[in-house]
Amino acid sequence: MDPQKASQQMHNDSFSRADTAAQEVLRRVSLRPRIGLVLGSGLGGFADALTGSTAIPYAQIPSFPRSTAIGHAGRLVIGNAGAVPVAAMQGRVHLYEGYSAQEVAFPIRVMARMGIRAVILTNAAGGINLNYSQGALVLIRDHINLQGQNPLVGPNDERVGVRFPDMTHTYTREYRAWAREEASRMGLTLHEGIYAAMLGPSYETPAEIAFLRTIGADLVGMSTVAEVIAARHMGLKILAISCVTNMAAGILDQPLSHAEVMETGGRVRGVFEALLKAVLPRIGADVAE
Ligand code: HPA
Repeated sequence: MDPQKASQQMHNDSFSRADTAAQEVLRRVSLRPRIGLVLGSGLGGFADALTGSTAIPYAQIPSFPRSTAIGHAGRLVIGNAGAVPVAAMQGRVHLYEGYSAQEVAFPIRVMARMGIRAVILTNAAGGINLNYSQGALVLIRDHINLQGQNPLVGPNDERVGVRFPDMTHTYTREYRAWAREEASRMGLTLHEGIYAAMLGPSYETPAEIAFLRTIGADLVGMSTVAEVIAARHMGLKILAISCVTNMAAGILDQPLSHAEVMETGGRVRGVFEALLKAVLPRIGADVAE
């Protein structure tokens, strides 16, 4: 088979594999969520609080990638957040684990095939903006993809989305406004910033952080962007929130560690979850019909 054909086949397979996986999940649950949640490092606990839930280990979903990072449980939990049915990914996979951007985005495709119309992504990030401090919550307004990869590389399926998707209004403006309103009602500071995505897994050097600040980044992390690109391609509405688990390299005179990331994630978890809970009904109403 010529390479173009082989690659076309691979992609058709990936769309039909997403369909198969979605059917398998839907066969096992009666809820029909319209919102997908991707819970990052240390934030997976939100899924444990869902009511009437069914947790499906990624290993039991056909073609689903398994997460290998510490702090990522690797289960898809379908349940209710208050009155809003959601599909929550407890843990995600990353490019630094060796997965391709297509594999990283696969669960988003599956949730879209399941019928979700909006996705809320959370992550742990390093703070570049000096107005942030450890534990700050930041709405992602836009991103800079420095991972050198894109989940849409390869043949495009026009039934799924266009070849050259617009990325101007990727992070849904009204969702950000709702999140800000709910945060202010809760007396919570919620910043808004630009997320720079790096491949990892090494943390950045201080020189790289200085560079990222120069090009306009407020936050840095190793996830989210491949998922967001696939979600945007499929026409999903998007809300993404980072937890600043540490100030980025070179800002404070101390080394970065995954333990610190997990520790801060755990400490902020309560407010993070309260914010999610407050925004969910508004997004739920938006995607209800
Ligand atoms: N850099 C990249 N990814 C991260 C960081 C960081 O400082 N903190 C949490 N995820």
